Amino acid sequence: MTENTTKPRISPHSWRPIFAVAGCLAAVLSSCTYEVADPALPCGDEGIVSFAGDLLPLLDAHCTGCHSGGSPSAGLDLTSHDRVAESTLEGSLLERLQLPPSNIRMMPLNGNPLPKCDVALFQSWAANGAPNN
Ligand code: HEC
Repeated sequence: MTENTTKPRISPHSWRPIFAVAGCLAAVLSSCTYEVADPALPCGDEGIVSFAGDLLPLLDAHCTGCHSGGSPSAGLDLTSHDRVAESTLEGSLLERLQLPPSNIRMMPLNGNPLPKCDVALFQSWAANGAPNN
């Protein structure tokens, strides 16, 4: 007799799936925001940068038109690992890639600055000791 009057029409337990869905939605939304806002990964995770696979194609596209052959600009042949490594670790290569186009020392000379994520490949490779990999 009393059973019908004390039993709630909607059990509190029936709300649980709704809370679960809302929780998932919140997690998805916050993870999206986190990815956009995370300054540690502006270019994605490159892993170990390869000189032959990642950097040579960039140098070929933007630099070796002047920096190769019999009389390379500034005597700098950027087809050679040793010269690129030396210029990156001890010379001005990294600095020049990051100069604004208004600066006459910016490389590639007379071209457009490399995208930040391409420059980041050089920086990551340098931080790894500029290996011939
Ligand atoms: C249009 C020709 C041209 C292109 C393309 C070019 N350079 Fe240069 N580069 C020069 C000239 C000319 C110099 C010497 C004048 C100077 O130091 O600014 C030079 C100098 C340099 C130096 C200084 C060398 C030293 O020993 O002082 C570095 C480093 C360099 N370039 C790197 C690059 C890189 C990296 C690229 C590609 C992203 C590039 N250059 C593209 C013409 C070019």
